[in-house]
Amino acid sequence: MEKRITTRYKSVDSITETEHTGMVKEIFGTITKRYDLLNRLLSLRRDIAWRRFTVRHMHFNRTHRYLDVATGTADLALEVTRLHPQTTIAALDFAREMINAGAKKVEERNLQSRITFIMGDALNLPFPDNHFDVAGIAFGIRNIPNRMAALKEMKRVVIPGGQVMVLEMHFPRQPLFRNLYSLYLTYLMPSLARSFTRNPAAYLYLADSIMHFPSPPDFSRIMKDTGLITIQRYPLTLGITYLHVGIKPE
Ligand SMILES: C[S@@+](CC[C@H](N)C(=O)[O-])C[C@H]1O[C@@H](n2cnc3c(N)ncnc32)[C@H](O)[C@@H]1O
Repeated sequence: MEKRITTRYKSVDSITETEHTGMVKEIFGTITKRYDLLNRLLSLRRDIAWRRFTVRHMHFNRTHRYLDVATGTADLALEVTRLHPQTTIAALDFAREMINAGAKKVEERNLQSRITFIMGDALNLPFPDNHFDVAGIAFGIRNIPNRMAALKEMKRVVIPGGQVMVLEMHFPRQPLFRNLYSLYLTYLMPSLARSFTRNPAAYLYLADSIMHFPSPPDFSRIMKDTGLITIQRYPLTLGITYLHVGIKPE
């Protein structure tokens, strides 16, 4: 039986970027085992539809290469192999435990020739400029305090005309729904998660990080400020999640 973790994490608005990153590394090194199960359970399987929606909006016309940043257990990368059969994929994450879990799924599906895992940091991508048709990140940018730097790196490695895609959870604006969702995030979700994970505080962090993440229009502005153009955003499931898409100028 694995040891239960009793850490309590500070709110993301009261810590430094270095502390936030350290916390994220610890969290994703300890919740791997039930990560996929809890994603399905806590989103009522909407996470699958959100990733599918994202992958349907991807265009592979030139390099047929996709970069999955903060790949975790590789669900987005796997969806790309399914819907875009000619692509090859680089799947990058800094948590070894998540990569190991993702690599296991890729092996089970015999997709090792399509997906290559790389241990690395989203802020320093080990790829040349203009290398991928698309760079995507699902539920990762919220965990990276310097969002602008991560987006700039994604923009650097896609071809001119290539897509930078961000799938992320937001805290809804509409007051009644916001209150209900806040109850779900701060009470129901962590107590559901407690029965499945050895690090229950990780799910309090999840709630806190969603509540402190920029609003969808503010996030569009961050994307614009990195030099991306034709910024679009698509609300999913009453706006609790958005797909953000930006294009690297030609
Ligand atoms: C919530 S998980 C998302 C995993 C996956 N993309 C999905 O759709 O389920 C966030 C992932 O981001 C990774 N991560 C966070 N900051 C990172 C960074 N700076 N560089 C690389 N990976 C990072 C974590 O290790 C974790 O695996």
